[in-house]
Formats: sequence, C-alpha cells, structure tokens
Amino acid sequence: MSRRTEAPVIKILTLFPDMVREVLATSMAGRAERQGNVRYEVVDIRDFAVDKHRTVDDTAYGGGAGMIMMAPPVVEAVESCRENAAAPVILTTPQGETFNEDLTLELLAELREKGEIILICGHYKGIDERARELVVTREISIGDYVLTGGELPALVIADAVVRRLDGVLHNRDSAENDSFTATREGGLDCQWYTKPPEYRGLGVPEVLLSGHHANIEQWRAREAARRTQERRPDLLPESSSGRSGDRNSD
Ligand SMILES: C[S@@+](CC[C@H](N)C(=O)[O-])C[C@H]1O[C@@H](n2cnc3c(N)ncnc32)[C@H](O)[C@@H]1O
Repeated sequence: MSRRTEAPVIKILTLFPDMVREVLATSMAGRAERQGNVRYEVVDIRDFAVDKHRTVDDTAYGGGAGMIMMAPPVVEAVESCRENAAAPVILTTPQGETFNEDLTLELLAELREKGEIILICGHYKGIDERARELVVTREISIGDYVLTGGELPALVIADAVVRRLDGVLHNRDSAENDSFTATREGGLDCQWYTKPPEYRGLGVPEVLLSGHHANIEQWRAREAARRTQERRPDLLPESSSGRSGDRNSD
C-alpha cells in the first residue's frame, strides 16, 4: 500500500477566484493549509477562454433567458489541473446528491486515497451539458434551493471535508461528538455551556459542574438522544422512515 507524504489538494474551479481564495485563507481552512494538512489550488476558469474578451458564457441554443457556461473553458480548466485521472471531479449543482455526513466521509477517503478532489463552480443557468458528460464524475447539491453560483457550495464541501483531516482540529474544536457522527449514532449533538455559571438568571445543569465524568457523559448522551428525538426523529436508527431529506440513501 502506498503512503502519501504530500498534503492532499482541493482544487476549486471558479469565475470568482478572489472570493474563494479569501475564504480558504481564513480560520480553520486557512490554518489547515498553513499546518500542511491540505493544499488549495484555485483555478480561474476565465483563463481558459479562447477570445480576447475572456468570454466564458453564451446564450442558450433554443433560446430562453439566462446564459450558459461554455464547455471548452470548463473542460480545459479541469484538464489543466487534474493530476490523478481517478480523482473525483465534482460539479456543484442543485440537481446532485444532497451533501451530508456520509458524503463528507466518502470525499475525505477519496481525498486521502487519490490525493486530490476537483470542485467545479457553475454560474448563470449552469454549465453546458457536454462539459458535465466529458469531465464530471460526481454531482453534489448542498440543499434544495438555488444559489447564484457554486462558490459557496464548493466552500461548504471543502470546509466539511478539511475539518475531518487528521491534525486539522485540535482538542479545543474537536469534531468527534458533533451532530451526525458515529459517536452520536448519526443523531444530533447535545447542548453545551461555558462560563459564566449564571447569566441573566439562567444557570447551568448541575451535573456539568459536578466534576463526575461518567455522569456527565451519560447526561450528554441522554440529551443528545432527546434532542434528536425532538428535532430530527428521522435520524433515529429505529425510525422506519430512515434519513428523510437524504437523497443518497434512496
Ligand atoms: C443559478 S444556479 C443554476 C441552476 C440550474 N439551472 C438548475 O435549476 O438546476 C448556478 C450555479 O450555482 C450553483 N448552485 C446553485 N444552487 C446550488 C445548490 N443548491 N447546490 C450546489 N450548487 C448550487 C451550481 O454550480 C449552479 O451551476
């Protein structure tokens, strides 16, 4: 089995590279790159336009309102940065599989194994269907609503994956018992408190101040289960409906 020594790379293809770079340099995402856990490559799709005006979109064949991103710049942008032919090329689209915890872990495994994942940000009415057919291997939606562009979805996906890479999160912002994790059996996290012990007449549950670790863990597990039951009963293992809203499990 080969051991990868270089940091895996997340490549984002976009018409708005500055917006993407700015977010990736900030907070946890930026720290992960500075620590060497991951590398980001932001590719400007406009660099692959063929005319002097750097045109990347045109009107739709058949007519209708809205511009379409042309196939050649998108395909050539992917080909320019793809190093591993087996790496996933993901199109952000409201028509894709809905992004969730399972998909996060799948992409994490692919990133580790293949060394890169490529995310394409669409704009306008989306990309020419032929670009999808030629280079896209997977399509992901971040929910049933439509945004103006794929930058926010690509950044959402990158953030969710990067925070699960080894060494990115320190104890102070641990992900091990967050909502949807195996620790929470796929359910929601419990509620959390910090200082002060009283604020505007509201205290903290006694058990959390007791120093009794076993009781605290029990309380947290019970509260997590209660919140899941109350807010997302569809996440409970015994629920016959399964994970509602999760198109991946259809
Ligand atoms: C206005 S949208 C295009 C919507 C497309 N005509 C449709 O109705 O399916 C422009 C771009 O934003 C991105 N986008 C918008 N909503 C999204 C979502 N919910 N999930 C992922 N990407 C989305 C995609 O990259 C898409 O190509």
